[in-house]
Amino acid sequence: MQTLKLKRPDDWHIHLRDDAYLSRTVHDAARYFGRVLVMPNLVPPVIDVSSAISYRERIQALSPPGFSPQMALYLTDTTDADTVVAAKQSGLVSAFKLYPAGATTNSAFGVNAIEKLYPIFEIMQEQDIVLSVHGEVTDADVDIFDREAVFIDTILSEIIRRFPSLRVVLEHITTSQAASFVQDSSDRVAATITAHHLLYNRNDMLVGGIRPVHYCLPILKRHIHQVALLEAATSGNASFFLGTDSAPHPRSAKENACGCAAGCYTAHAAIELYAEAFSSVGRLEYLEAFASEYGADFYGVPHNKDHIELTQQDWQVDASFTFGNTELIPTRGGEPIAWKVTSGERYPLRDGVH
Ligand code: NCD
Ligand code: ZN
Repeated sequence: MQTLKLKRPDDWHIHLRDDAYLSRTVHDAARYFGRVLVMPNLVPPVIDVSSAISYRERIQALSPPGFSPQMALYLTDTTDADTVVAAKQSGLVSAFKLYPAGATTNSAFGVNAIEKLYPIFEIMQEQDIVLSVHGEVTDADVDIFDREAVFIDTILSEIIRRFPSLRVVLEHITTSQAASFVQDSSDRVAATITAHHLLYNRNDMLVGGIRPVHYCLPILKRHIHQVALLEAATSGNASFFLGTDSAPHPRSAKENACGCAAGCYTAHAAIELYAEAFSSVGRLEYLEAFASEYGADFYGVPHNKDHIELTQQDWQVDASFTFGNTELIPTRGGEPIAWKVTSGERYPLRDGVH
């Protein structure tokens, strides 16, 4: 049986939600992750340091020792310089998240005119705090499958040209254009890659019937893009690192005749799913750097000192999980996963129903 030992991994992009949902999301993410970078798109969003601190306290109340939530603040049209300075000084905020208004789940408070934020990017550059970007345009006349590539050409390249020292993470990349762009940029520009974009493409979502479980934003693309992402993630290039974008929605919000909510839940099995993806291209030996080193290096924090071990061994994911007082369908629900964490878990995965 093949095994793989790696430093404890971190997740540099996760949605934990709030209140009754936290017990599921924190339990699952803290099973083996060290740090997680918690996205701020609550309703209302986390826009200042004091709300980030109280959100962090609600997460920590459910966290086992050694699990460290790092916070991101939500950029709006009115984010000011004082908020950037306060965020840096707090030592708890690792990034500001840019959501173009209307691009994705809970982005209604997002940014309408990105150029108006240039003075804020200037201060972020001075303060050396990371700009984390949802990279999709929202123009009605741009096809949903092209929105990431158009964002790179029309918006991101200009931000990077104007602020060459700003550290930027293009989140959850989905296209060969994004992978090439990051590859060709300086080491101040990085990208997270999700497990679901490595394991699936749009055929998995659309052929034989639409599958809400695979609907997320940016949307799954063609197989050629999946191949490009696998190549980037397993290339040993330090600009690509782990960010799950695990984003749970109640089943009723996803399997909904009036529109499926965007987001895939992978926190219950993230590292196991990444191991499957890396092993599918015979490059497991690159998983440790991607999952446990490059993200920490980019954010300027030390690697975790302890380890986990994965074993190639099938296990079955429960078809459905309890989620607050609702139900959640996890990625791979009711189906097997080929890798399992066999040492370094803080506790075993809780049953779907609890
Ligand atoms: C995320 C969510 O549900 O919060 N959804 C998604 O499809 N990825 C938001 C986001 O990261 O775009
Ligand atoms: Zn996200």
